[in-house]
Amino acid sequence: MHSAPTWDPQQYLRHSGHRTRPFLDLLARIPELPAIGTGLPPRIADLGCGPGNVTALLADRWPTAHITGFDSSPEMLEQAADYAGTTPGGGLLDFRAADAAHWTPDDTYDLIVSNAALQWVPNHPESFPLWIEGLRPGGTFAFQVPGNFTSPSHALLGELCDAPQWRDRLSDHGRRFVHVLDPAEYLTRLVDLGCESDAWETTYSQLLAGEDPVLDWVKGTALRPVLTTLADDPAAAAEFLAEYRDLLRKAYPPGPHGTVFPFRRIFAVARKKN
Ligand SMILES: C[S@@+](CC[C@H](N)C(=O)[O-])C[C@H]1O[C@@H](n2cnc3c(N)ncnc32)[C@H](O)[C@@H]1O
Repeated sequence: MHSAPTWDPQQYLRHSGHRTRPFLDLLARIPELPAIGTGLPPRIADLGCGPGNVTALLADRWPTAHITGFDSSPEMLEQAADYAGTTPGGGLLDFRAADAAHWTPDDTYDLIVSNAALQWVPNHPESFPLWIEGLRPGGTFAFQVPGNFTSPSHALLGELCDAPQWRDRLSDHGRRFVHVLDPAEYLTRLVDLGCESDAWETTYSQLLAGEDPVLDWVKGTALRPVLTTLADDPAAAAEFLAEYRDLLRKAYPPGPHGTVFPFRRIFAVARKKN
């Protein structure tokens, strides 16, 4: 077993435009919340909220809401604290430490949302019944997870972790994320739980600028466990990054306008019936 990866909010935020787009696409499919029209502020949970910039977008759509971002990374929570407090619409944003693997709704929620986080939570579908139970009737559970684990960026990372020179220290890191399901499987599970559900996938053709932009992207997410394991050996970390960079350069050669990095993402929205 490995300890939890250490996150680097600044590295993660370097690609915030491309990383925010799928959240906006998810948000567009979330139906109106049951609290709207009752005079009560909507109650919202954001699981794996990260640096809080995406959590704050929820307050743009539901200005009076009480929104709580939950995350297990102290580094991310420290960054998210910049957004904490009352919102211009009279709502409230707060952030708390929690492990999504064991998170139980502590309130009755209008919306439980998670963006790009449940891929780090093995067996997350087993928590769906509990999370949906924590919703008000007419409330929504919505999430987005990457579905790019067979893409060259991840496959090459896995192969390199398994290569003879790294196997002893890094062998499990290539086999993460096996717990992400296909859209049809998420759909079936959510309909089984009595929800009106929608699930879909989109592959974004992300145009990245600069030198070795795919490496720079992955440094903010999928490489975190490797970088955490090698944190006490900077020479080994530099060597690993150089080997991985060479593989990525071949897999994602720059084109005339930058480097195209296709990125598949999986979405699901489940509305609890009234
Ligand atoms: C790729 S970031 C996504 C952050 C944010 N939701 C966004 O869309 O920008 C993944 C986040 O999930 C968090 N995370 C990973 N495992 C977690 C767990 N078991 N419980 C809570 N948060 C977790 C990480 O700390 C990180 O902040």
